[in-house]
Amino acid sequence: DVETKVDSVLNLMTLEEKVGQMIQYNGSWDLTGPASEVGNKEKEDRLKKGLVGSMLNVLSVEATEKAQRMNMENSRIKIPLIFGYDVIHGYKTIFPVPLGETASWDVDAARESARIAALESVAEGVNWTFSPMIDISRDARWGRIMEGSGEDPYLTSQIAVAKVEGYQGEDLSDPKTIAATAKHFAGYGLAEGGKDYNAVNIGKNELHNIVLPPFKAAADAGVATFMNSFNTIDGIPATGSESLQREILKSEWDWQGFVVSDWGSIAEMIPHGFARDKVHAAEIAVKAGSDMDMEGGAYEAGLEKLVEEGKIDEALIDQAVRRILRVKFKLGLFEDPYRYINEDFAAKVPYQEHREIARDIAKKSIVLLKNETNMLPLKNSVKKIAVIGPLADDKDTPIGNWRAQGEANSAVSVLEGLKNANLDAEITYAKGVTLGEGERSFLFPLKINETDRSGIPDAVAKAKDAEMVIMVLGEDAFQSGEGRSQANIGMAGLQKELLKEVYKVNKNIVLVLMNGRPMEINWSAGNIPAIVEAWQLGTESGNAIADVLTGKYNPSGKLPVSFPRAVGQEPLYYNRMNTGRPSNDQHVTYSHYTDIENGPLYPFGYGLSYTTFEYGDVKLSSSEMNQGGEVTLSVSVTNTGDVKGKEVVQLYLHDLVASIARPIKELKGFKMVELEPGETKEVNFKIDEKMLEFYTAAGKWEAEPGAFDLMVGGNSEELQTVKLNYSK
Ligand code: IFM
Repeated sequence: DVETKVDSVLNLMTLEEKVGQMIQYNGSWDLTGPASEVGNKEKEDRLKKGLVGSMLNVLSVEATEKAQRMNMENSRIKIPLIFGYDVIHGYKTIFPVPLGETASWDVDAARESARIAALESVAEGVNWTFSPMIDISRDARWGRIMEGSGEDPYLTSQIAVAKVEGYQGEDLSDPKTIAATAKHFAGYGLAEGGKDYNAVNIGKNELHNIVLPPFKAAADAGVATFMNSFNTIDGIPATGSESLQREILKSEWDWQGFVVSDWGSIAEMIPHGFARDKVHAAEIAVKAGSDMDMEGGAYEAGLEKLVEEGKIDEALIDQAVRRILRVKFKLGLFEDPYRYINEDFAAKVPYQEHREIARDIAKKSIVLLKNETNMLPLKNSVKKIAVIGPLADDKDTPIGNWRAQGEANSAVSVLEGLKNANLDAEITYAKGVTLGEGERSFLFPLKINETDRSGIPDAVAKAKDAEMVIMVLGEDAFQSGEGRSQANIGMAGLQKELLKEVYKVNKNIVLVLMNGRPMEINWSAGNIPAIVEAWQLGTESGNAIADVLTGKYNPSGKLPVSFPRAVGQEPLYYNRMNTGRPSNDQHVTYSHYTDIENGPLYPFGYGLSYTTFEYGDVKLSSSEMNQGGEVTLSVSVTNTGDVKGKEVVQLYLHDLVASIARPIKELKGFKMVELEPGETKEVNFKIDEKMLEFYTAAGKWEAEPGAFDLMVGGNSEELQTVKLNYSK
């Protein structure tokens, strides 16, 4: 079995070779050519000696093969390298950014896009992705909110499991699958003020009830690796947290994979003020259970020395190496180190088929936020449409950030999508304003155009001359993502000015938003008759948007995050705690902001359709449930409109009195129903003890006796409630 094999390899290894396995290098040089820079030469030498366990960002059959050969043909110990890469929402075929894809509430879609991403990754030698990111985020200012599944632990857990299944398949040694990573462990999405890398100040309740559930779900689904996070939690860097990595993940959850640090996060414990130097950082991290050092240089600097000086026990090193070897065995790398490096394989990837699936997933991810006067779907009677805005013919923004090998400017733009749809209408186009200026890149901030208004008159003239206007506004691909936190989340630059100028001459506007985070769109919500949330939908973006605008696809997406009325409401989330003063009609002395209505602009779970759904009365098979028992909640849903449509029926729960005050509601289930006009279906949810459980004051997951509200509806605010009493 794998464990015996792991031990047999481990027994052959020197301390230096063991430490080598715990080191991951960035392939920052051209591996297909000679190593030139001094630093890279040293890295190459270590590679040849078998003193590197993994490399990241080495892409292509040629480069991965070269690196693997350097290692396998020169090293004494001949342990295959594992090649990691950030394959976040597709490899070449790009799918919606994860936040957008989650808006589909379609776990099959999430699994399928991961399966495809895996297939395209292995075609270039990559056998390990640093995905899924399952950090709960409640703050639209945080740039990385686009990479996760939003604010809800249950929905994020469902997506986490689907992603792990999609990437890893049923058998990790199948060369069409890759190892997945649950990241960032833990709390990274709750950075104070939504500022990336910032401290996280949460207590046990939020850690266990909000942050950890998706990680537990991923661990239970057999995710091969975890990545820890850059942040501190309550003063302890996650990378140096024994409680998170050793006690919870490896001991309580009995998870067998390995933990890779985030880039340099071991050495970053020095500026955190938690480690004196790299050697000290290595000591803390290895004791805490960080198994592999991603480009931190700390394990290289410290581990051997620490063992030799007796500061750490070699058994700790053995534990880490055992975990790393286990994953390599499971990937089948010991049988064939070149298993994932295969030119024939690359030639057989069905890219065209992948594009079709990408379009299907993209259209399902779109959320219809407003459709006053039923402007949508587009009517045949409309014969002249002006398509306006900096993102209207943008072929790059839909590719989003963390785009892996998604080519720049390779998406179908909205303008192209509308043209492809062959509408019986004349389409005119004006950019109006540009959004960003100059070079755009992953590493540098985007410079926003604040001054060039020269295109506005043309846009206004075209709007005036058209019967309706489709405006495509939002965020550039590089406005969200790592290091892209923003204090403002409205439309950047001159976009709002353009919108208002167009509005003056033509009020029949459909606003299509492209963005990686919830935006502040209060003015638009109050004035623009139709609003479509189209995120950054990937390669097939424009076709998918056209499918929805034309009614070829009836929108079914629901928001996985709350949209605020103002940035000052952030962090904003539906599953909040109550206060002692939740409401008061007469005085100011209740929990609110005096200058804005309480609550979001658009709530979690919200999204319209071109049809309407009516919910019947909610029924519970019994209002009493005993320990070990279960009851059934049922509700009928009717399509009361005149087109076929899909509705995501959502189930929420509130534990009224508990040993730790519970959120006012928490998502506990959802089901998608598809209904023909006039059709009714009954939707059932099984309610059992498991659903009532939470991490209690006693430090255990259990259901506490008492009264519960069960709530059902089409979003987190429009709900019907029934009462359940649970006794033990
Ligand atoms: O996987 C990423 C992580 O999410 C952020 N830091 C760098 C890693 C590797 O690229």
